[in-house]
Amino acid sequence: KDSITNTFDYPLRNLLDKADDLLEKEELSAALDQYDSILSKHPSSPRALHGKALVLDRQAEQQQSNTLLEQSIATMEKVLDGKDVPDDLLIMAGKKLAQRQSFRGWNGKAIKTWKFLTEKFPTRLDLKNQLGVSYLVIGKNDEAKEIFKQVLTTDSSNGFAKVHIGFIIKTHDNDASKAIPYLREGVDSGAEGTNDGRFYFHLGDAYQRTNQTSLAHKVYEDGAQKGLFLSKFQRSLYNIDSLTGRPWWTAEQTGYQKYLQILEDNWQLIRDEGMKQLDTKTGSFVPEEENLREKGDWKQFTLYARGKKVEKNCARVPKVCDLIDKIPDAKGCTRGQVKYSVMHPGVHVWPHCGPTNCRIRAHLGLKVPPGPKIRVAEETRQWKEGKIIIFDDSFEHEVWHDGKELRMVLIVDFWHPELTQRQKQTLSPI
Ligand code: LMR
Ligand code: MN
Repeated sequence: KDSITNTFDYPLRNLLDKADDLLEKEELSAALDQYDSILSKHPSSPRALHGKALVLDRQAEQQQSNTLLEQSIATMEKVLDGKDVPDDLLIMAGKKLAQRQSFRGWNGKAIKTWKFLTEKFPTRLDLKNQLGVSYLVIGKNDEAKEIFKQVLTTDSSNGFAKVHIGFIIKTHDNDASKAIPYLREGVDSGAEGTNDGRFYFHLGDAYQRTNQTSLAHKVYEDGAQKGLFLSKFQRSLYNIDSLTGRPWWTAEQTGYQKYLQILEDNWQLIRDEGMKQLDTKTGSFVPEEENLREKGDWKQFTLYARGKKVEKNCARVPKVCDLIDKIPDAKGCTRGQVKYSVMHPGVHVWPHCGPTNCRIRAHLGLKVPPGPKIRVAEETRQWKEGKIIIFDDSFEHEVWHDGKELRMVLIVDFWHPELTQRQKQTLSPI
């Protein structure tokens, strides 16, 4: 413990060690008493402040208490403000402080903490990388990229900085070919923090969008082997383990036959209300915004998202929303949507995967000319008017519309039938 004990703490080291032991043994209130008793005589002891902050943090976690978390943060801040604090202790305290500030949602404060550390220890590239990540978290992509570039200027083989620059170029600048070398070299470095599904996801996608399909498949197989994906085709990143995964589903397999029947029985009504929205040019339909298209005109009109009714849109198609209201596992699916999807001839949707394996996606064909088709994993199908097709959109899928007229479907997401009631109620919305 020498490296975290300054001359001020040195005479107190036995007392401090004893408090640390109690903390290690999870005897939290005894540890807190011990730190407090040291602090009553030596209020600026850096090790006692650090230890006390750690105890409060453990208690905050156990009691799920923001008040305790904030006390922990305030105590840890005092360590950073202290005089003559040993480097090792300062770094330990600073890292913990920044992590807890982010966890509390105080991202601006976390950035300040990482900045403080990077200015104090300019050669520590791991701290700089964390500063970059903290910018990324709040969407300051350019600032983040600049920090990661600085890391690469000092250490041109830093894999952590590379994957993050590649990620920003791919997702923010939307430049697949420029992102590839960064992502490739970054994941190949094996550096800590690079073995992450997001980087494999976007590296594969960048290959697919630059027509390097076999390289993409290698990345996906590799990611699946490493356990970052459920399988090479099923690449959602918000998953519940052990749910049955298959690209295409039959109505019987879902157990939702009764509800699917309601939709098919009413397909003309659903078509007519949707078509009216298209005709009035009222702006109900909005272009797809997730950057999934290579080309073409693809618009959607959303009725439910994350388990919530979009009231102003439902007001335009009230009968359809009345029907959906009769389907608990669609209406209440907080990890899905209900929406019309209109595709015009000429569309190509890049191969892509939905974010979660917790939903099953039904498409009800409403306007189906010859031409459009959808591939899910290795099997391609077509829509039929008045008929439902069902797939799991966490599996890779790709859509083409080579026909001559618009295609309209109603997309209805259902909870995966194997989820428990409790999971449906508590899973975070997507
Ligand atoms: C998708 O979910 O990516 C597509 O299937 C949507 C659509 O309109 O076909
Ligand atoms: Mn999709």
